[in-house]
Amino acid sequence: MTVEMDKIVSLCKRRGIIFQNSEIYGGIGNTWDYGPLGVELKRNVKEAWWKAVVYGRDDMEGLDAAILMNPTTWQASGHLESFTDPLVDCKKCKHRFRLDDLNGTACPDCGGELTEARSFNLMFKTFVGPVEDAASVAYLRPETAQGIFVNFANVQQMMRRKIPFGIAQIGKSFRNEITPGNFTFRTREFEQMEIEFFVKPGTDEAWYEHWVNERFRWYLDLGINKDHLRLRTHEAHELAHYAKACVDVEYLFPMGWSELEGIANRGDYDLRKHSEFSKKDLSYFDEAAKEKYLPFVIEPSAGADRATLSFLIDAYREEEVRGEKRTVLALQNRLAPIKIAVLPLLKKRSDIVELARQLVADLRSEGKTVYDDTASIGRLYRRQDEIGTPYCVTVDVQSLDDRQVTVRDRDSMRQVRISLDTIKTYLKKCLDTGGLAD
Ligand code: GAP
Repeated sequence: MTVEMDKIVSLCKRRGIIFQNSEIYGGIGNTWDYGPLGVELKRNVKEAWWKAVVYGRDDMEGLDAAILMNPTTWQASGHLESFTDPLVDCKKCKHRFRLDDLNGTACPDCGGELTEARSFNLMFKTFVGPVEDAASVAYLRPETAQGIFVNFANVQQMMRRKIPFGIAQIGKSFRNEITPGNFTFRTREFEQMEIEFFVKPGTDEAWYEHWVNERFRWYLDLGINKDHLRLRTHEAHELAHYAKACVDVEYLFPMGWSELEGIANRGDYDLRKHSEFSKKDLSYFDEAAKEKYLPFVIEPSAGADRATLSFLIDAYREEEVRGEKRTVLALQNRLAPIKIAVLPLLKKRSDIVELARQLVADLRSEGKTVYDDTASIGRLYRRQDEIGTPYCVTVDVQSLDDRQVTVRDRDSMRQVRISLDTIKTYLKKCLDTGGLAD
């Protein structure tokens, strides 16, 4: 079993990881802000993704497209017509529900009679420019994917790419979700990490398999417990309007197994539709085979917020140490918001404080390093454990004489004395390999 969500929400607030948005005004439903430590954690998640899917391969390019797009995009993609949820209203209490969330035929709140279901489009509508009329309507993108499709020819031609190749993008998406919830799991504004991988028709099934395996492995490589991760193939009736096949990577969240990422075989749906609507031929000409075709697309589509939440939940531990409760975030070093905390044993001794501060300045090049002297050493350790800092370095009276400091490992709580001459290379090695180096 995983931890209850309340404990994660409380830790996130207490330790500056995630705050309720506009909290001083009472907040706005299911909208969250990443605090000083949350922004580091989420950046590390996005960086790990970018490193794996862009820098780690030679068949990928990156992109950063705009959120607002020509509205014809959404006509072509099918979002204007099909990106809807069926909704019903209670005739008595006027509450609104998603049809698929209801069990019976009466209102779950007051037992009143329900209206017929109506389609509710999930895209946020806005107006571009000073006039609010039909000609100026625009939408906040509900997925980053379309920014990639409309740039397919630009990237392929300008970067002289041959099929197969892919385009990766990280960015905000917006959906007017009817039932957001479960902390950052489902929100109206969220960040996606999407890949559109363009392949020759006929090779699509092999590439689909390839990406399902790659993406599943990514979560395992970053430390998710394999018992908390599974693949779930979509049934035919669940498939989105564009998909030929789809598999979800699911994580065992506190509310049960839920989607982390979807990997879809989109066939040639997107390039065909955009060719039709834009009247631009988006097919690809294979010089070697003298063959022209519309590439098929394999789409691994992940959520940066959901991934971040799953890493937080999976890393959360409560232990008893010498009769006291210890909370630890056992995050992998590359995900940890702070890599090293330097703690002076006696904050009243200016020579110890000076040495500790020098050390912080010296260690900064190895990753985010902080100085803290605001509590007793025991409390300082607990605080760093709770936010997942893998290494604490303590400077004590003896350090002034023997030029050695104590390095403490978060998970094992083991401590070693290391010379100031080698501390930097020692911690670099620890950060690379995990745990305490030999
Ligand atoms: N382009 C395909 C696409 O957008 P999706 O399954 O609707 O597919 C992909 O979304 C991923 O985006 C999800 O697996 C999830 O991680 C994330 N996501 C979608 N809606 C979300 C929401 N309301 N809040 C947070 N993350 C969301």
